[in-house]
Parts: sequence; C-alpha cells; structure tokens
Amino acid sequence: MERRVFLHMLGLGAAAACIGCLASCSKSGNTVSPSGNSDPSAVSIDLNSQLQQVGDYVVTNGIIIARLSSGNTPADFAALSAFCTHQGTVISYVASQDLFYCPAHGSEFSTTGSVLRGPAASPLKQYTVHISNNILTVS
Ligand code: FES
Repeated sequence: MERRVFLHMLGLGAAAACIGCLASCSKSGNTVSPSGNSDPSAVSIDLNSQLQQVGDYVVTNGIIIARLSSGNTPADFAALSAFCTHQGTVISYVASQDLFYCPAHGSEFSTTGSVLRGPAASPLKQYTVHISNNILTVS
C-alpha cells in the first residue's frame, strides 16, 4: 500500500504534509525546541486554559503532552519525548487511535512510548506527569 493512501486511510494526510503545523495545531502556542533536546524542567501547562478536551496535545520544550481522558489526574495525560526515535521528526497525537504518530515515515508509538510500528526501533522517553493546583508539570 502506498504511504499516501495509508495516511489518507488514517486521516493523517494533512499531518504528513506539514510537519511544521504541529506547533500551530496545538492550542497552547508553545514552541518546539529546535535542537531536538527535551527539557522537562521548563514544562508548565495551565489546565485551566490548555489541554481541556480529550485529544488535545501540545509540544513544548521537546516534550509532547496529550490529554488521553477527561479529568485532571496524571493518568489522564501522556508525556513523551516529542522526537521520533527513528530520525528525530516531531510526532503528533492521534486521539482517534490513541497513539502517537510520526509523519516522516509512519512510526507509531503507544501512550507509554513503546513502538507499535516501525521503522523506529526504540521507544520514546516517557515523562512522569505531576498536577498541582491545575498546573501540569513533568519530570
Ligand atoms: S523520523 Fe519518524 S519514522 Fe522516520
């Protein structure tokens, strides 16, 4: 099956066509680290205004944080390195399939970062989510 057809079936054609849209697709306006490094100490997300709907995600400081379910407990979120372990492309969250997707070559990762589909062979680094006073941080 052609990649383009496969992506269309997943409804991800637009994501594959525009890696740069990932930051703008998030509702936070947070930025992507250009260096490919992740800095969990700099992540601070106000849940009063961000990640309010299931499926929302942001990429900030090299970390992708997605809301998996309603509620404001750490279990309602996933926090992973935003950079695909294949060649470093920024990934996105696909709520309809509850997985993280790399538009470059189609790797897929679970919400804990494990590889579901290659070519990536290594898992994404998973971060621990903390929530205090509706502020989400990671470590
Ligand atoms: S860079 Fe992600 S699959 Fe190749």
